[in-house]
Amino acid sequence: MSSATRVSNESAANAAARDVLSTALCGIALRNPVIAASGTFGYGIEFAHLCDLSELGAIVTKGLSREPIAGNPSPRLWHTEAGMINSVGLQNVGVRVFIREKLPKLRAFDVPAIVNVFGYSLEDYIEVLKQLEDAEGLAAYELNVSCPNTKAGGIFFSSEPSLTAQVVSRARAVVSKRPLIVKLSPNVARIGPFATAAERAGADAISLVNTVTALTADIASRKPRIGAGFGGLSGPAIRPVALRMVYEASRAVSIPAIGLGGIFSGEHAAEFLMAGASAIQVGTASFVDPCAPIKIAGQLRQIVIRSGARRVGDLVRTLRIPGAEDPKD
Ligand SMILES: Cc1cc2nc3c(=O)[nH]c(=O)nc-3n(C[C@H](O)[C@H](O)[C@H](O)COP(=O)(O)O)c2cc1C
Repeated sequence: MSSATRVSNESAANAAARDVLSTALCGIALRNPVIAASGTFGYGIEFAHLCDLSELGAIVTKGLSREPIAGNPSPRLWHTEAGMINSVGLQNVGVRVFIREKLPKLRAFDVPAIVNVFGYSLEDYIEVLKQLEDAEGLAAYELNVSCPNTKAGGIFFSSEPSLTAQVVSRARAVVSKRPLIVKLSPNVARIGPFATAAERAGADAISLVNTVTALTADIASRKPRIGAGFGGLSGPAIRPVALRMVYEASRAVSIPAIGLGGIFSGEHAAEFLMAGASAIQVGTASFVDPCAPIKIAGQLRQIVIRSGARRVGDLVRTLRIPGAEDPKD
């Protein structure tokens, strides 16, 4: 066989294998269900010299606010035995600078761009979304509701289903061009009511989980090791909790769920898909290896092929827990 024929056979095989992973999320065609998670992949463009962005299912940008935010005092990160505590403080360039300076560069890459949005009042969320609605080249919005409403005494939008519903329905009213994904917090006793509240308020999908509120202390100074005091735990330590919540949330709603929390391998990704996620996101793993999401997609492809499934979607929601109720069955 000539080397030209071999290369062309290999690319045909790669294309066919790629197709095993192709899927759709809220009408967005994804090359694969592996998405780079918010806050761990910059605005995407910073990673372009490290890996081929077009090999990703999608990219979620760093969270965007109405005005630029400088972030929290350092130290902002602390490594734990099985993960990381961070309190970056949602540092970002603000929605206007994003649209003017980052988005035109991100648009040049052949990868769906999902914009993560947050605010400290209902008006903040609405203002950011209104600005984004007029921008070109975005695939979807992801609403980070794990923020305090400073105009209502600092209560978190993610702490009561009614508050989550309030921010989602207000967002829904201004968003018509693109799907609205609502990112849920794991810092609640029961996730099902939050998933249902988001769905009823108009979410097209849910993503979960955000970080788990955490604390680490230095015994000599008797002070937190994180400048801002508390932080958010991410990485392998939270994976089993996240998986349980994805299982519960995905069964409480009819809209798709996107699973994340400590996914570091194709096997982890497959676990989340089987638990009920239609796609997954990779966060902390990108700090260890910026190409982690692409490598995870490659490993997932092998798992799908080995399982005999025709498509990655065939794995979704195939996990059965003996004795557990499944409201949709
Ligand atoms: C440094 C850092 C910054 C983050 N920033 C955001 C953010 O801006 N918006 C958001 O919704 N989630 C943010 N997250 C949460 C992640 O997207 C993800 O939900 C969480 O880390 C769990 O996934 P992982 O264990 O794969 O990292 C951030 C996480 C980290 C570690």
